[in-house]
Amino acid sequence: MRFDYTEEHLAVRDAARDFAQSELLPGVIDRDTEAKFPLEQVKKMGELGFMGMMVDPKYNGGGMDTISYVLAMEEISKIDASASVSMSVNNSLVCWGLEKYGTEAQKEKYLKRLATGEIIGAFCLSEPEAGSDATSQKTTADLNGDHYLLNGTKNWITNGSSASVYLVIAQTDVSKGHKGISAFIVEKGWDGFVIGKKEDKMGIRGSDTHSLMFTDVKVPVENRIGEEGFGFTFAMETLNGGRIGIAAQALGIASGAYELALAYSKERKAFGKTISQHQAIQFKLADMATQIETARLLVMKSAWLKDNGQDYATASAMAKLYASEVAMNVTTEAVQVHGGYGYVKEYHVERLMRDAKITQIYEGTSEIQKIVISRSILR
Ligand code: CAA
Ligand code: FAD
Repeated sequence: MRFDYTEEHLAVRDAARDFAQSELLPGVIDRDTEAKFPLEQVKKMGELGFMGMMVDPKYNGGGMDTISYVLAMEEISKIDASASVSMSVNNSLVCWGLEKYGTEAQKEKYLKRLATGEIIGAFCLSEPEAGSDATSQKTTADLNGDHYLLNGTKNWITNGSSASVYLVIAQTDVSKGHKGISAFIVEKGWDGFVIGKKEDKMGIRGSDTHSLMFTDVKVPVENRIGEEGFGFTFAMETLNGGRIGIAAQALGIASGAYELALAYSKERKAFGKTISQHQAIQFKLADMATQIETARLLVMKSAWLKDNGQDYATASAMAKLYASEVAMNVTTEAVQVHGGYGYVKEYHVERLMRDAKITQIYEGTSEIQKIVISRSILR
């Protein structure tokens, strides 16, 4: 068993760290306040190869492993979780699914541009009345000659307005339950496709979360991913990998807050010494560091299993469940270590605490991760 990183891993981590410090940190507070999508920064992330990291170079990707992706996600999430959720969705929900299950024509047409970040993708499963209970979705796609007619509403879609390509999961045969669900590639601008209002959120405020409405949108048959009825398995398998990305995001939010708290504790004085010399603060830092390290082990293990062709569904659920809890605990304690200064925007930790909460909700809530884990244990 080895716990060291390769030279390439370290180079990717350092590149992501430099980018986050130089390009994401300036303006992150304003983007959060104004709920502004980091468009310019996400474009640069594409140019640096962060938007299609694991895609085969023959489709313009970086050809990297999942460990590299996790290291980059952590560094970017330390500074700007709104940028990192765009990165996570594009890499692990959109590019991964298209590369694994798309046709050559779909890869040529869509994946090659998604992998460079020239265009951004979105993954559309959730609906107003179907989030955790994803099989009860109501969006339909009815075959009509050489195309399907797509009707319904998707909710909470990350990259909702900035994306150009949307992977949409819809019912093609309601009578078949989850075996009657299919997946489609839909382009922005097609007739009948309307982007709804942007959500005004607690955290990841820079991320553009929108509802999407489809009314008789004509989707060519060649834009179906896999066979009819494969859509739910497609979504679940895609989410198994997506959860590694979100676990890495949670890890990054936690370690970003911890690093700020550690530095602050060595500067701030109270009762004649730095607060880092008070045992209560030392113990908080010790707990934070231990939780982060434990989360990192779980996240890296799930990435390693994926890279080594082993089953990673349960491991990724465990990593996301635990890392998102750690993100909430650590960011809350980081605010506490900062005292009153932790409660204002200038010191960043209040934003990280607000950003942490979403990691317990999206890509399957913590309760859903426990369902995935317990079903696997009891199988
Ligand atoms: N991997 C592979 N296949 C899976 C799977 C997994 N993790 N979980 C379920 N399946 C398969 C099952 O094997 C079954 O297939 P078969 O019948 O062929 O065996 C099929 O899916 C249905 O499974 P269940 O009977 O277990 O279905 P269920 O209705 O009880 O629900 C669930 C299962 C795990 C709760 C699932 O609905 C789920 O994961 N819900 C959460 C949805 C979610 O994560 N949404 C995220 C949206 S994207 C997002 O959020 C992006 C973002 O924010 C940035
Ligand atoms: P519900 O499913 O209604 O759950 C409500 C509560 O009940 C939760 O605590 C849940 O854990 C609990 N619960 C539900 N069922 C059970 C059960 N069986 N046992 C125990 N507890 C249960 N979706 C996409 O498809 N694409 C995206 O890009 C995307 N991005 C998002 C971005 C943001 C900012 C947000 C907020 C959401 C996003 N989502 C996206 C949707 C997200 O995946 C869902 O919000 C999530 O899966 C939960 O669904 P829900 O909101 O309908 O909650």
